[in-house]
Amino acid sequence: MTDKINELLRRVEEFKPKAAAEIEEFRIKVLGKKGELNALMEEFKSVAPELKREVGQQLNRLKTEATQRINALREELQQSAAGEAGTSDDLTRPGSADGLGSRHPISLVRNQIVEIFSRLGYTVAEGPEIEDDWHVFSALNFPPEHPARDMQDTFFIEKNPDILLRTHTSSIQVRTMEHQRPPIRVICPGRVFRNEAISYRAHCIFHQIEGLYIDEGVSFADLKQSLLYFAKELFGEQAVIRMRPSYFPFTEPSAEVDVSCNLCGGKGCPVCKGTGWLEIMGCGMVDPNVLKANNIDPEKYSGFAFGMGIERIAMLKYGVKDLRLYFENDVRFLHQFDQAL
Ligand code: DAH
Repeated sequence: MTDKINELLRRVEEFKPKAAAEIEEFRIKVLGKKGELNALMEEFKSVAPELKREVGQQLNRLKTEATQRINALREELQQSAAGEAGTSDDLTRPGSADGLGSRHPISLVRNQIVEIFSRLGYTVAEGPEIEDDWHVFSALNFPPEHPARDMQDTFFIEKNPDILLRTHTSSIQVRTMEHQRPPIRVICPGRVFRNEAISYRAHCIFHQIEGLYIDEGVSFADLKQSLLYFAKELFGEQAVIRMRPSYFPFTEPSAEVDVSCNLCGGKGCPVCKGTGWLEIMGCGMVDPNVLKANNIDPEKYSGFAFGMGIERIAMLKYGVKDLRLYFENDVRFLHQFDQAL
């Protein structure tokens, strides 16, 4: 009997499986209910009493060793499988190209507007988002009691009423006039901030583009013609504009500019609320007080300015109905602009 036990022990030790299935087969053959170990246990019953102790110990050792060996072999095989997976890179495989992202619709529209005005000789100017009262209000002829200075609209920084987040990009006009003499022709894109409740049509952060042109003999006709050119470039040759009298502290006269609705062609639809017109910007002739505040002689020079919200233009151009989509950066929204421009 001892010979049989030793023979099985030797086979267990020498067992070298190639696959997990072989181990399982071997386990059933040795340790299974009808396996060799149980057969030996059966035989053990007829072993002479004086040998029982010794043979019993041999059988126990066989059982422990066989169990341990099988467990160890299983683990070994698993590890080598994992190791192989980690080194199975096929170095001859062609690389996979990363999908290209798309430009944000606000960037697309901003770039397009900048590009149109650059064809008219405008260059880009920028300014700080944290501003002071002078550049945002005072130098732009805002009377002290003007509602735009109200706490409701403006974010002030650290209770200091002189330091604030700019509420419009008109502040860049002032910064440009500080270090440039006419002729001045700048287009000023930027982010602006207003203390407004967030909804589908308002946000506390948005983007504007400001334009400023100052030279000798600049007239309202120049303003009108420049904006008509702009509208046709942006919305198509069929676009026309109209101007409505308005008020801004920094321009005199001032106007609101509407473009013909590009969805209904001016007939009237829900987007233009049946009017056939869409409001796109404010504009006007630079107020002589603004020129004076910036040391430019209003007797010699005149100019025009205009300002528009980029979100609004993008909404009209792409039919976006909720302003908040621009800020959420949901890729399902952004991917729709993959092909745009
Ligand atoms: N700054 C104005 C606003 O935020 C927009 C504006 C209107 C800018 C008329 C101009 C302008 O330059 O002439 O509502």
